[in-house]
Amino acid sequence: MRLDGRRIVVTAGPTLEPIDPVRFLSNRSSGNQGYAIAAALAARGADVVLVSGPTALAPPDGVARVDVETACEMLAAVETALPADVFIAVAAVADWRPAQSGAQKLSKAETGMTLQLVENPDILKTIAARPAGRPALVIGFAAETHDVLERARAKRLRKGCDWIVANDVSGDAMGGTHNAATLIRPDGENNWPRADKARIADQLAEAIADRLAKAPIT
Ligand code: CTP
Repeated sequence: MRLDGRRIVVTAGPTLEPIDPVRFLSNRSSGNQGYAIAAALAARGADVVLVSGPTALAPPDGVARVDVETACEMLAAVETALPADVFIAVAAVADWRPAQSGAQKLSKAETGMTLQLVENPDILKTIAARPAGRPALVIGFAAETHDVLERARAKRLRKGCDWIVANDVSGDAMGGTHNAATLIRPDGENNWPRADKARIADQLAEAIADRLAKAPIT
């Protein structure tokens, strides 16, 4: 099923939180799954904005990419890209950032061993709770190493998103090419066995297209 005329905003990749001009906090996200989702949606005709943290990947054909580094920049870029029919948060957003990021390189003598952190905005939760202009379908990802389904179901409710894609990252999923996932909706769940990330992306694109076709979002 096609997605022509639908605008979809996707976040992907890690965020990078500077400590000083030469050091940062980040994570192992490759961006593979988010980029594959953006590509699958664009292949079905959607107008896709991919808000991406730093990755080694080229933007998929037909996708408008907005490059960001930090979680705060990612939230601002998503808000600028709205309104949209669908928002999909695939990025591995750093939960914290250094409280201060100096303009000059820090030395051991100045900082000692303590790094003060502050919490980053939760992009998914913020977009799901928008009082006006909330995308009709808000989808999150839950990367879990244990109790995957229970934790993902709870996360869907906690984040206020409509759907969540649970994936088990206890193996090589994070940064790897393959993934196994479960799509958790309020009205049911679909198990997607381990496959390459393009296949998982296509299954998600199909589910979104079905949902929009069944109950058209205007
Ligand atoms: N997410 C986000 N902004 C954040 C943190 C997470 O948008 N600051 C999104 C991710 O893109 C993903 C979902 O929230 O869609 C879940 O991310 P995850 O890292 O599993 O959740 P956390 O909020 O970090 O939960 P916890 O660490 O408590 O498991």
